[in-house]
Amino acid sequence: MRYEPINPELFINNRNRLYGALKTKSVAIITSNEEMPRNGDQYFPYRQNSDLFYFTGIEQEKTMLVLAPTHPNKAFREILFILKASPEEEQWNGHKLTIEEARAISGIQTVKYHDTLDFILNDLIFWAKRAYLATNEYPKFFPEISNRDQRYAHEFKEKFPLIKIERLAPEITKLRQQKQPQEIDLIKKACDITGIAFNNVLKNTKTGMKEYEVEALMTFDFLRLGAKGHAYSPIVASGKNACVLHYITNHQKINDGDLLLMDFGAEYANYAADCSRTIPANGKFSPRQKECYNAVLRTFKKAKALYTPGNTINNVNKAVWKMMEEEMIGLGLFTKEDVEKQDPDNPCYFKYLMHGVCHPVGLDVHDVGGKDDPFPKGQVLTLEPGIYIPEEGFGIRLENDIVVGDTPVDLMENIPIEADEIEEIMASSNND
Ligand code: GLY
Ligand code: MN
Ligand code: MN
Repeated sequence: MRYEPINPELFINNRNRLYGALKTKSVAIITSNEEMPRNGDQYFPYRQNSDLFYFTGIEQEKTMLVLAPTHPNKAFREILFILKASPEEEQWNGHKLTIEEARAISGIQTVKYHDTLDFILNDLIFWAKRAYLATNEYPKFFPEISNRDQRYAHEFKEKFPLIKIERLAPEITKLRQQKQPQEIDLIKKACDITGIAFNNVLKNTKTGMKEYEVEALMTFDFLRLGAKGHAYSPIVASGKNACVLHYITNHQKINDGDLLLMDFGAEYANYAADCSRTIPANGKFSPRQKECYNAVLRTFKKAKALYTPGNTINNVNKAVWKMMEEEMIGLGLFTKEDVEKQDPDNPCYFKYLMHGVCHPVGLDVHDVGGKDDPFPKGQVLTLEPGIYIPEEGFGIRLENDIVVGDTPVDLMENIPIEADEIEEIMASSNND
């Protein structure tokens, strides 16, 4: 592991919080992700299923968590199954967790090798009245290949066709939305690493560089500071490339006079940071660029107060869109009269800000949680207003990660964001 060991109390508490939501005589099963094949004999870098990590801290493939919290035999209430590697496999691929190591990481006392799974599961299902299966229910995600958890649900139904199956995702979502203090510390660490990388980007970005050179600066700092890498494909978009919302090719030259929009974040201990900053490539905003930048920044500062318990993503979106509409009128992009006669299904602001400005962040950069779910205290969400004006050749987005509270806490408040501060740091570097 590249990160300091996580106190297993986090995973123990997460499991205990789940038990209150499970009906009596039930078994809950959570699968790990598998290794994703690439080409030849390679796999993509392994990333654990976020739900499995949340309840166990285990990062290994071929892991399964089986919970039966009301089972009369205490040893059957929490069982972790792990893979058993042969000495030959360990010779090639490195050490795999022992039973004792998996117990220490997860805080689960009953840890067994995978080859005993079928036998024990049969026993548990014979006892149980229902099974809960965890699947990824992200509503706007349509991958061509299914995850292990989805395929396991089919396998499970085939094997136990008469047992009642319920969805675990709604219960897990409720838990994962409310971050525990240890989780907030880990997200903060990811944010701090991201901030260090941004400061170095400010000091080392020059016009004439390729966008991917800036990406390389970020990657260098992420890796040397113990992050696993980027929490998502970073966007390094100069000039009008910033108007392509998911621009990730990062292959073009950064020209004099360009703004450079960067949306990037480190992944530390599987927790994501999600940050956006926009800087003038040559170190100095033009008057028009600064005017638009400060319009976004004013909105960003005002909107932080919206991150209080009980508010919702939909409310934040509406409020921030309204603020940006005012700013856009001030910037001369359209008039009050245009707004009065606009089509409510296609408002004027939508031409220049066509995305939501708030989403949960945590184990996944787009973490679990619905748009109408009231924010619990401790949820971490992004605030990311922006403005995209292709006809003027730039896009601007500013994005920090905010902890919901009676007084919201900005986990990125130390990352430079004032236009003057950005210019100063760029000027103080060897960027001349
Ligand atoms: N980095 C993806 C997003 O901001 O939503
Ligand atoms: Mn975001
Ligand atoms: Mn982002």
